Amino acid sequence: MNIHLNVNGQPLSLEVHPGDSLLNVLRRQGYFGVKHGCETGECGACTVLLDGKPVSSCVMLAAQAEGHAVETIESMGEHPEQGWRTTPGLHALQRAFVESGAVQCGYCTPAQILAARALLDKNPAPNEEQVRVALSGVLCRCTGYLKPVQAVLRAAAWLRGEEMEPQDRIGFPLPPDQNAQEADALPGGFAPVPPAGTLLDTAQRVMPKMVVTPQTEAMQRVGKPEPKVDAVKLVQGKPAFAGDIEMRSLLHAKVLHSPLAHARIKRIDVSRARALEGVAAVLTWQDIPRVVYSTAGQSDPIPGPLDTFSLDNKVRFVGDRVAFVAAETLEIAEQALKLIEVEYEELPALLDPARAMQEGGVRLHDEPEYKNFADSDPSHNLAAHIHIDIGDIEKGFAAADYIFEEEYIVPKVQQAHIEPHVVLTYWDEDDRLVIRTSTQVPFHARRILAPVLGLPVKRIRVVKPRIGGGFGGKQEILIEDVAAHLTIATHRPVIYETTREEEFIASRSRHPMRIRMKTGVLKDGTLTANSMHALADTGAYGCHALTVTGNTGHKSMALYVGDGLYRQKPNIQFVADIVYTNHPPAGAYRGYGVPQGYWAVDRHMERIARKLGLDPLEFRLKNALRAGELHPFSTAWSEGREPRPETIQTCGLEECVRQGRAVIGWDQKYGNPVWHAGLVGADGIRPNDRPYIRRGIGAALVMQGTAIPYLDMGAASLKMNDDGSFNLLIGATDLGTGSDTVLAQMAAEVLGVPLDDIITYSSDTDFTPFDKGAYASSTTYISGAAVTRAAQQVAERIRQRAARMFNEQEKATHLPNVEADKIHLQDRQALAPDGRALSLEQIARHALHQADQEQIMAVASYMSPVSPPPFAAQFAEVTVDLESGQVVVDKLVMAVDSGVIVNPLTASGQIEGGLVQALGYAVCEEMVYDDKGRARERDFNSYHIFRAHETPELETIFVETFEPSHPFGVKAVAEIPMDGVAPAVGNAVLDACGADIFDNPLTPEKVWRCLQMRSDQK
Ligand code: FES
Ligand code: FES
Repeated sequence: MNIHLNVNGQPLSLEVHPGDSLLNVLRRQGYFGVKHGCETGECGACTVLLDGKPVSSCVMLAAQAEGHAVETIESMGEHPEQGWRTTPGLHALQRAFVESGAVQCGYCTPAQILAARALLDKNPAPNEEQVRVALSGVLCRCTGYLKPVQAVLRAAAWLRGEEMEPQDRIGFPLPPDQNAQEADALPGGFAPVPPAGTLLDTAQRVMPKMVVTPQTEAMQRVGKPEPKVDAVKLVQGKPAFAGDIEMRSLLHAKVLHSPLAHARIKRIDVSRARALEGVAAVLTWQDIPRVVYSTAGQSDPIPGPLDTFSLDNKVRFVGDRVAFVAAETLEIAEQALKLIEVEYEELPALLDPARAMQEGGVRLHDEPEYKNFADSDPSHNLAAHIHIDIGDIEKGFAAADYIFEEEYIVPKVQQAHIEPHVVLTYWDEDDRLVIRTSTQVPFHARRILAPVLGLPVKRIRVVKPRIGGGFGGKQEILIEDVAAHLTIATHRPVIYETTREEEFIASRSRHPMRIRMKTGVLKDGTLTANSMHALADTGAYGCHALTVTGNTGHKSMALYVGDGLYRQKPNIQFVADIVYTNHPPAGAYRGYGVPQGYWAVDRHMERIARKLGLDPLEFRLKNALRAGELHPFSTAWSEGREPRPETIQTCGLEECVRQGRAVIGWDQKYGNPVWHAGLVGADGIRPNDRPYIRRGIGAALVMQGTAIPYLDMGAASLKMNDDGSFNLLIGATDLGTGSDTVLAQMAAEVLGVPLDDIITYSSDTDFTPFDKGAYASSTTYISGAAVTRAAQQVAERIRQRAARMFNEQEKATHLPNVEADKIHLQDRQALAPDGRALSLEQIARHALHQADQEQIMAVASYMSPVSPPPFAAQFAEVTVDLESGQVVVDKLVMAVDSGVIVNPLTASGQIEGGLVQALGYAVCEEMVYDDKGRARERDFNSYHIFRAHETPELETIFVETFEPSHPFGVKAVAEIPMDGVAPAVGNAVLDACGADIFDNPLTPEKVWRCLQMRSDQK
């Protein structure tokens, strides 16, 4: 059928299928700023303006838009410099999103900007609440919404002609002691509440609070809130993502998923599907080689069992793969799936991890190709086993005055990146297979796929374009083989993009666990022994089984070593069984096992402190690890490799506690019965008119790691151009974290140039050097050290050539000789001690064109012998409704020591986004399966992630230390915000109403039941 639209002011006459969605039609026309995040109208990524109103184009038929005006992000501003053509530049909203750090992965950004545009067109002076409501239709998994809200308020002010303070300050400094300053505003320690009609006054608070090191203050580019190097393209909705591409004769792939949790495929008949017109290929396990591998995107050798096939004659979970189809259109591919006939022999399903290791029970992996790693044992459904003893645990228990034992449970949750997994494969003109994919691990993907596809590594090129969030979900070789097998079968390009339902039923998740804690304590609160036993459910395959669960103990149990003599020789035990079940596989998810550990460890510490009548913060600090001490696990475990002792060089934990407790007003609120029961107005305490409400405050202390020592390696190459600019090529992958920006900042710092002189490109296995990829909070530290080394080598070459140029001048001027090592690079110049200067452009031209020509460039790599932990204190303030059990989290504060903060704007965005993601783990996110192993959560309706109008007040404080193992003193930022929110909220709920909940999330039902039980016991 023919329809007529007006798109961005241009009349369009289009031939469409009656069932075509507006989203698909617009993307086919090249409007790639309209994104796909789901198919059911819930994520808002596909938002366009229809006659000025935001609509979800995925659930609107193109035919319904007949005669209407459609606006996409492409109708807004553009880059201000377009050669000789002058442009009005970016729209105020786009500019504000760039400058406020509101863009992380950028996948939701066009939709957020359009939703904001619709608001500002109607209401030029919105308050924060109105902005939050306007953005509430667009899900963002990265930002925590704070900076997008600030950007909209800022743009509104600009459009009204108001001046706004520039966002170039490093951060808001903290006064020496802000206990008095922050929380004494009202009697009883109450902080003032915002005036009615607003949620928070965040318009001016883009930057975090900071305690800055002297080294940071002395730097020019590192430590500064530079806008992201990729933000300008993302606010324009440029075709930056893996699926934003057109290609002649492109086929569309679909996967047939298993409806059963455990079955053998007795017979599979694809003849009717193959016969369907428009179908190019149908593949089953009988059509492709049987190669065993692991989907975990990790270094070689993969630290886990090899237990997966692209297609198998057995299915092991509801959602497992049965067949692949490639067809001319998605609709034909979907039709073809329905024509495939499969006869299953259903097998008993194993859905209870506690029964997995029972003798003679159901066995998931009986294939002869299975390859063990370390202690995996498929005959007992054991994907991995860990046993770590530090000190003498039994001696420690024997010395204790009290023993505390309890079991804690954590659920399966989803990464829920808004961009689904998407891959496009094709043969290039040299018969090499190109894989353009949304991956966190392009180099691991190439290595792992080579044997699966029957190709040598050298005949595969993996291109990682922009990624729309990953959070570990894309540290998996999950879909690349599907498209690649179909390209091999058809010799045509193939695109495969998962639906949101496939994301829920067939991708990866956080490992659910049952964790048993046993802890020995002296009367004075000294820990004498601490043990953890974790039973983790890896699901049907063992990808990341060993390493995720290893981290659960390694990072959470290492924090508490005891005090006095015990501090020197702690007694710690960590044992874990990671078992197969017929649930969908778990895998990597931001935090990588550590949030599970801290739910148990920190809730346990809180309970011990309360039972012994100790101050919960003092009790934790008394027993916590300190600078100068050995990381206890470094002597005992290293993911199945040789452990090497490591001393903690920097630890700002005590200062984090001091700053965080001041900002949240801990001393005024904790144990204050008036505060617990009261409600506060702008004018002070008023009588409690809601007697069923209780307030509570809680904290959790956490540590993470920074990269995997003696394993993770990153590399960078840096080349100087004619104009004195530089190309920085890195294998590291920016998932939206801002790593491209912070790596460019390090290069700019060394070379003495502004950030926009560094043109960053990542990553392509043909052109960029190797990098292990984005995981383990390692990019700033590992890849950053590689970039710094490469930049130092380039700077050295520049100094050498500048010295030569100065000294050639010297012959004419009779000035003294200049030594290269005395030349300083600054402001795009090489400065001699005598005041002479050469521009980098002059030096580049001299090198490339004028004398003894050479390309000034360098390649460097870095592998770290240490993994310096970041530390943090996380605080939560909650309100609990005693009648319904509902928990409202009012405020989250995180004070974090991540070493030097290279970019406070992007780093605070990481913290804010992490806090809100972690809040879902605390109160609402959970994946539940029925007794047939079928998922309850299959879309963003049943699986709730926070929206813009639901998030609490967020406060980030950076307590900088200078980590001596890195040239710029950095440690990790990205994962640590995930660790302490759930236990801090759990502790705050306990503080509010006495409900002591052992399994998160803290749903109203659980809190209500716990309160009922307490009242029955009374
Ligand atoms: S893609 Fe349309 S709402 Fe998700
Ligand atoms: S920036 Fe919003 S989803 Fe990534």
